[in-house]
Amino acid sequence: MKTKYAIVFICIVALVIIEKESNILSRVSDKLIQRQTPQQTPQPPLDYSNATQIGSLTMFKMLLSKLTGAKVNYSSLSEEQEEDELDDLGTYRFNGGQRHILLMATTRTGSSFVGELFNQHGEQMFYLFEPLWHVERMLTTASEANNGTVLAGIYRDVLQGLFLCDFSPLEKFISPPPQDHITPALFRRESSLSLCEESVCSPVAKDVFERYHCKTRRCGPLNLTLASESCLSKQHHAIKTVRVRQLDTLQPLVEDPRLDVRVIQLVRDPRAILASRMVAFSSKYQTWKAWAQDGQVPEDDEEVKRLKGNCDQIRMSAEVGLSQPRWLRRRYMLVRYEDIARYPMQKAEEMYRFTGIPFSSQAREWILRNTQTTREASGIYSTQKNSSEQAEKWRFNIPFTLAQVVQRVCGPTMKIFGYRFVDDEKTLINKSISLLEDKLFN
Ligand SMILES: *[C@@H]1O[C@H](CO)[C@@H](O)[C@H](O)[C@H]1NC(C)=O
Ligand SMILES: *[C@@H]1O[C@H](CO)[C@@H](O)[C@H](O)[C@H]1NC(C)=O
Ligand SMILES: *[C@@H]1O[C@H](CO)[C@@H](O)[C@H](O)[C@H]1NC(C)=O
Ligand SMILES: *[C@@H]1O[C@H](CO)[C@@H](O)[C@H](O)[C@H]1NC(C)=O
Ligand SMILES: *[C@@H]1O[C@H](CO)[C@@H](O)[C@H](O)[C@H]1NC(C)=O
Ligand SMILES: *[C@@H]1O[C@H](CO)[C@@H](O)[C@H](O)[C@H]1NC(C)=O
Repeated sequence: MKTKYAIVFICIVALVIIEKESNILSRVSDKLIQRQTPQQTPQPPLDYSNATQIGSLTMFKMLLSKLTGAKVNYSSLSEEQEEDELDDLGTYRFNGGQRHILLMATTRTGSSFVGELFNQHGEQMFYLFEPLWHVERMLTTASEANNGTVLAGIYRDVLQGLFLCDFSPLEKFISPPPQDHITPALFRRESSLSLCEESVCSPVAKDVFERYHCKTRRCGPLNLTLASESCLSKQHHAIKTVRVRQLDTLQPLVEDPRLDVRVIQLVRDPRAILASRMVAFSSKYQTWKAWAQDGQVPEDDEEVKRLKGNCDQIRMSAEVGLSQPRWLRRRYMLVRYEDIARYPMQKAEEMYRFTGIPFSSQAREWILRNTQTTREASGIYSTQKNSSEQAEKWRFNIPFTLAQVVQRVCGPTMKIFGYRFVDDEKTLINKSISLLEDKLFN
């Protein structure tokens, strides 16, 4: 009994010590932020690796293990683990434990599904589905759009605003322009649980015939001021986008000291992506379909060049992320669609662990409901599929000649992610031959 009280007492003392020291730290870091002038590029978050916290945290652990008699093998606690814990603690002090998840993907890589994993987290999550859709739509007609550098900068600024709950950078791109920050036109509002909450749901005018803007309740057009207030009240923020092309264009966003950004790059076998796009975006892929028919693919065609360009951008982004530059350390995770399809729960857990957001039972239940069903997809954007079966289907939908073209132009991309090449049609459609190498990335 006595030892129990002693343990509790020492724990409290140790916590007080840690608390004091981290208060000092956070005051120091606040000063550092204040000192920054707007012209300066944002500093990366402080490096806590030398902080006095190490001392007290390690001591705290040791005290705890001695008192409880737990056998902790200190040499097996790798440096990486220790650092992770400290980083969590450090960033907690830094911005109140907020997390900003950027889900960076391309179309047909299961990004709606993964986005939903975060959307379903619960009350503390503010999730947005493809807000950059507005930017792309408005700028593809403008001349600036031809300049990828300019476009990437605009995307980044809009994302930065949204992570800070400021909708005004995005508002400029919503068409028709919002009146008094009210818009009926926000792209896929209903895909965001937080934009359809009671508090963000303005009443529908009774005398006007109007469609509802949410599935779950009868909401009128979106009041962006309310959306922003809801956003500010939530601890975590997640944005899914298929429009960011190059990871390195996000560096200033990741280094913004007001944010704690984690990037999840979602990739998929480029052969499967092509097969899936030919079904989903049928009219855009007429050329590929014609090639599939007559078996001839002109290598220097614009379509083939575009495919190669896309593959190269995905590969280059992954190379940046996997090389762990200082600005991205512990902030980048690469996830393969195929692994999520095979082990949805396990991968979801890993992703949540990476983000530092607790894996809620609500999200867990959503996964259970949505991965164990044999019901066929009701629409092409549906995430309700038997995921492991779905992941292999493309092998029967793509003609071998097209698979060959993808292998030729996307070879280096496939290698990096562990997608096996096939030399003949028989292998392509033989389900007992896996085209996926087991691979760990992070
Ligand atoms: C941490 O300490 C080492 C050795 O004392 C020093 O070289 C390094 O610059 C320090 N790093 C920071 C971030 O203060
Ligand atoms: C502690 O961990 C290290 C590294 O994992 C291992 O070599 C060592 O045998 C372990 N010691 C004990 C007492 O378990
Ligand atoms: C894009 O714009 C930037 C800045 O205005 C300029 O430096 C760059 O040369 C442009 N690139 C192209 C391909 O036009
Ligand atoms: C939108 O919400 C804000 C904040 O509650 C409110 O002040 C404003 O009047 C609302 N706008 C409209 C048109 O209802
Ligand atoms: C999903 O499909 C796979 C492959 O056909 C099958 O083995 C599995 O039993 C299915 N899962 C469920 C829950 O129906
Ligand atoms: C599929 O591949 C397996 C393993 O290589 C082989 O044993 C089997 O004969 C193949 N099936 C067909 C139909 O080619």
